[in-house]
Amino acid sequence: MIKLNDGFQQLPKTYLFSMAARKIAAFRQSNPGIDVIRMDIGDVTLPLFQNVGQAIIEGTKAMETDQGFRGYGPEQGYELLRSAIAREDYRERGINISDDEIFVSDGAKSDLANLGNLFSRHCRVAVPDPSYPVYVDDNAIQERAGDYKDGRWSRLIYLNGDPANDFIPSLPDEEHTPDLILMCFPNNPTGMSISKEELSKWVEYARRKNALIIYDSAYEAYVRTPGRVRSIYEVDGAREVAIEVRSFSKTAGFTGVRCGYTVVPKDLKGRYSDGEEASLHDLWTRRQCTMFNGASYFSQRAALALYTKEGGEAIAAATNHYLGNARIIKESLEKAGLQAWGGVDSPYVWTRFPGEDDSWEIFRRCLEDCHVSTTPGVGFGNNGRGFLRFTGFNTRENTEMAMHNIIAYYTQQHS
Ligand code: MLT
Repeated sequence: MIKLNDGFQQLPKTYLFSMAARKIAAFRQSNPGIDVIRMDIGDVTLPLFQNVGQAIIEGTKAMETDQGFRGYGPEQGYELLRSAIAREDYRERGINISDDEIFVSDGAKSDLANLGNLFSRHCRVAVPDPSYPVYVDDNAIQERAGDYKDGRWSRLIYLNGDPANDFIPSLPDEEHTPDLILMCFPNNPTGMSISKEELSKWVEYARRKNALIIYDSAYEAYVRTPGRVRSIYEVDGAREVAIEVRSFSKTAGFTGVRCGYTVVPKDLKGRYSDGEEASLHDLWTRRQCTMFNGASYFSQRAALALYTKEGGEAIAAATNHYLGNARIIKESLEKAGLQAWGGVDSPYVWTRFPGEDDSWEIFRRCLEDCHVSTTPGVGFGNNGRGFLRFTGFNTRENTEMAMHNIIAYYTQQHS
């Protein structure tokens, strides 16, 4: 029989969002008359921006002609798009990133997993708890996580987030020095953003310890609070220690279109086991050329349309809409006396119900009694036990209805 990748053996059998989706589908099937308001996976609900749709149509029309037809594109993305990204997302904001440090992809989730190909399986990896489950699962599949017991992996270094530190983890202690650090701000799932001062501590730490940070900034377009960071490269010295991963999914409604990008600065270096030094930019280029044929022409045409006046205005309107929903969620929870985090620079709101520590049971009650689907906090790590995550990705009307149901239920249970 074929020998299997042992990395899968101890992995929980079902991915968090698939498990939640299954439970929601089962409830819907046995209750066909009930409309469930979806606040679980962070999937956008507004339609594609008009100029994005138009760009896809024009791309299709061009592909139907002899002159406009394109086959394989550059594995790193079309020059025009890489240049627009580097210029508008970085250089015009005072950050030194060159066009060829941008690698266009089909989204952040695949890049986060694929980046693991660059690193030895002996690297010690630090992951926040709670965190987007992909960080942990990818490292388990790539055999960096060790053994799984009671919700934790023996070789991972957990960076604890909790109400006491407002879900901004402290630096690892001296006994646990990571080679690789995964970070995400604005954070999924807690919705918390980070200040430049706080993030500078991590950059300084990574420089001191020769560690590499993989910074997931998929939600940067939601930052509204002055002084809160959108890119890790706002911090001096980050070019030498950080890769940044971004996505157009939540920024511009691309969850179905599929396009994102990763920034790999040329300053980043690593070492092979024999001591030879190599550039991560070279390795990532090599990896992508072998394993990736580039994001589709259509999705790149669509992404390019975002770097126009119309595109910029549509991004602001869409993210403001979702942030408006997040504010309603947060304020409703707080009005009912519950603690809530996030929802200011993020579409996610993180909460807990006092005295409850079974996230799946709270998920079940929200679904069955309030007809609202959420994501159980424990799916993001042990520190998420008893917590729930709501998303602002819905209509205003559905958001208000969902919060009305949840608060009425909660008040009745606790009166
Ligand atoms: C989430 O809900 O955390 C994300 O939408 C999932 C994803 O981006 O894969």
